[in-house]
Amino acid sequence: MSLAKDPELVTFKEIGLSISSQDLLLLGLWVVSTAKLQKVRHDVHSTTKDSRNFSFTRKTVPPLNYPDQRAPQRVIDLVSEIYDATQQRYSEFLGRPLSALPTRYAATAILHLAGDQETEGHLDYHPSANAYINVPSTGGHLYVAKTEQARTLEAVREDSHEVTPEPCTVALFDGSRFAHFVDAIPASATGFRAGINTSYWDPSRATSAQASHPRQTVQ
Ligand SMILES: [Fe+2]
Repeated sequence: MSLAKDPELVTFKEIGLSISSQDLLLLGLWVVSTAKLQKVRHDVHSTTKDSRNFSFTRKTVPPLNYPDQRAPQRVIDLVSEIYDATQQRYSEFLGRPLSALPTRYAATAILHLAGDQETEGHLDYHPSANAYINVPSTGGHLYVAKTEQARTLEAVREDSHEVTPEPCTVALFDGSRFAHFVDAIPASATGFRAGINTSYWDPSRATSAQASHPRQTVQ
């Protein structure tokens, strides 16, 4: 049985990132104004099982390499800074080299609003770190399974690492091996949860059993 390393929450400052409050506001506004609600059918995507047939996610277009729908240049620059600053530290956390992902899914912003249910439980196709721009007053915690055997959302919830997101931090965890989900946000919460998920190419994946696992979720 393979045990998960405890997730780490590192500050932007620790990874050499300095983002002004104005730029944070810009990023948050961009996420809120452009993220689109998408239905995730659990019979199409290979998710961890839960009692629902589908769930929802709010995503922006991937801003770094989606040529048809470019975000404002300042947003692209900020997301690029987050992407690059996270890469080395995330590689150290995982203990294996990572390179930039040349696909349109290199970075995607995810939004969770008050009243949103928990997300699907899933494995990431590529190793992904979560940078937090804004968080709600309560809820929206990240749960990461402690074992690779946890394959239902309930099992993940019962035996998991819980990460409380904080603005200007990055959650590092091995989401390509350990199932995870973002918890519901109570309707009574104030504020919203906005984050940038950054995904990287893991060369070791090409020769590991993970390369053939059947899941579909990208981040
Ligand atoms: Fe994920």
